Amino acid sequence: MAGRILIIGACGQIGTELTLKLREIHGNDQVVASDIREGAEELMQSGPFEILNATDEAHIKEIVEKYKVKEVYLMAAMLSATAEKAPMKAWDLNMDSLFHILNLAKDGKIDKIFWPSSIAVFGPSTPKDDTPQTTIMEPTTVYGISKQTGERWCEYYFRKFGVDVRSIRYPGIISYKTLPGGGTTDYAIEIFHEAIKNSQYTSFLAKDAALPMMYMDDAIKATVDIMEAPAEKIKVRSSYNLAAISFTPEILAEEIKKHIKDFEISYEPDFRQNIAESWPSSIDDSSAREDWGWTHDFDLDRMTTTMLDGVGKTLKEKA
Ligand SMILES: NC(=O)c1ccc[n+]([C@@H]2O[C@H](COP(=O)([O-])OP(=O)(O)OC[C@H]3O[C@@H](n4cnc5c(N)ncnc54)[C@H](O)[C@@H]3O)[C@@H](O)[C@H]2O)c1
Repeated sequence: MAGRILIIGACGQIGTELTLKLREIHGNDQVVASDIREGAEELMQSGPFEILNATDEAHIKEIVEKYKVKEVYLMAAMLSATAEKAPMKAWDLNMDSLFHILNLAKDGKIDKIFWPSSIAVFGPSTPKDDTPQTTIMEPTTVYGISKQTGERWCEYYFRKFGVDVRSIRYPGIISYKTLPGGGTTDYAIEIFHEAIKNSQYTSFLAKDAALPMMYMDDAIKATVDIMEAPAEKIKVRSSYNLAAISFTPEILAEEIKKHIKDFEISYEPDFRQNIAESWPSSIDDSSAREDWGWTHDFDLDRMTTTMLDGVGKTLKEKA
């Protein structure tokens, strides 16, 4: 590789596993992790780390020059549920950080950007099932508005300035290594922890709230694949739909019961149910499959057994 990779927001749920994967592929010293806080020991110990605020343009430039960075993965953001509680702060973080990185590429300081979007770009007027790549987008959350706006700017910078920016609309990401950061789909992670600890879980979403989800390894694979694809294969320069599994809390609970017989679920929907209701139930990701060969490996059964195993081991290590 001609220059190093910088991950901003590397200590989060996705950033942690993405950094470790990129270090495995490119070599530990080639991948610089950064965040406003320190993260998991494995991440901190395995390669370079810098405390960096994603809204501090001058400091980002300094780090890019210091490490001769050529590729940036911008993972720092305020997520859906948290953003509803601090809309202006969310807007500033989610938009300013993106502009800083897009402008670095426009000025020729870096060559390539990964910026994640989300299923939150869709809204209540979007077709709910098999949501198409191109469709009505009227998001009702500040998070969704920031992601949709970000998508428009990514495409604009590509068309106007030739910036090589690539993006995926992640569904809810399920994993056990790092805790989730305040999203509407976090129930699908909490449920595993509570099932193992107490055989009981109270869901903050209603039992029939179907949402698109994906196991972490698939999300990381998609991120690596879209960044490694030849530029001409990336035909969508806003953001690609991406899908793997879709289920409701009730369906997930039934799947867990196959392994933990006395597991019980109850439902106390809160404000996050309103967010869930505004999002798609399932996603049509045929453009990603056709353009750059996306395929997923984890179905509901494999995700559930992997999570029960992983969360079980993590809880044992902590005890
Ligand atoms: N996790 C999901 O299910 C999901 C779904 C769709 C999209 N996404 C997107 O993927 C990206 C990563 O999500 P995640 O789940 O890892 O989020 P997360 O909240 O777990 O991690 C975000 C990281 O950014 C850091 N951060 C916050 N403010 C910062 C700042 N000012 N400067 C530098 N770092 C800062 C946090 O400390 C945290 O480590 C986000 O853009 C998110 O919107 C995630």
